Amino acid sequence: MSSVLKIENLCVAVNEKLILKGVNLEVRQGEIHALMGPNGSGKSTLAYALMGHPKYEVVDGRIFIDDTNLAELEPDARARLGLFLAFQYPVTIPGVKVADFLRHAVSNIRNPERKEGEGLIPMRDFRKELKSRMEELGIEQEFARRYLNDGFSGGEKKRMEILQLAMLRPKFAILDETDSGLDSDAVRFVSQSIARLSGPEMAIVIITHHERLLEINKPQQTHVMLAGRIV
Ligand SMILES: Nc1ncnc2c1ncn2[C@@H]1O[C@H](COP(=O)(O)OP(=O)(O)O)[C@@H](O)[C@H]1O
Ligand SMILES: [Mg+2]
Repeated sequence: MSSVLKIENLCVAVNEKLILKGVNLEVRQGEIHALMGPNGSGKSTLAYALMGHPKYEVVDGRIFIDDTNLAELEPDARARLGLFLAFQYPVTIPGVKVADFLRHAVSNIRNPERKEGEGLIPMRDFRKELKSRMEELGIEQEFARRYLNDGFSGGEKKRMEILQLAMLRPKFAILDETDSGLDSDAVRFVSQSIARLSGPEMAIVIITHHERLLEINKPQQTHVMLAGRIV
């Protein structure tokens, strides 16, 4: 049976200021949705609130994945339930190598009961999988040995987010302006990669100002956000 992400009357405040004012949205596994709207309308706020960012306070409404209420769950627990966010502004983590970060993340998602220090996905299998995903995305192999996003260009950071998506294969992926800052070749790679990843197992919410990603990833629904509401 396919899973559903259900957002009911979601109201979210940041620094005591109400930003989202009653968002309703239902996304089924396998669907592609586009979320558009002017800057400052609350698209990223919705993405952060779904993922459980501590600064984004849910003051009313509910978020469900199937029968599970996400309200009390930490971001890592939400990730284990199949939720994924590609950040609009990815963070840099000097000292953590891309390959190590991904190997741990993938191990934790695929084996939710895993205890720290055991049960990492075998290095050989992981390397092989990572190599082919990187090739598909047009990412240089030496990226795997660099620190996460450290010294990456804007475009490299966006491809890094898609590489995470490709490795983690979540049920629900929110892509927050993953096409911004990319040249047209990079947009094509990302777009084709999303097309390859999408299917009955994955739902994708594409937050964008352009139609570039939507040309080959045709949304079933397009939502427009304005001043904290889907209009
Ligand atoms: N971390 C934050 N601190 C303060 N204000 C924020 C924060 N995040 C968002 N906001 C405010 O919330 C509103 C919506 O922002 P955002 O969700 O980033 O919009 P969008 O992604 O649609 O451009 C804006 O007025 C913005 O200033
Ligand atoms: Mg935004």
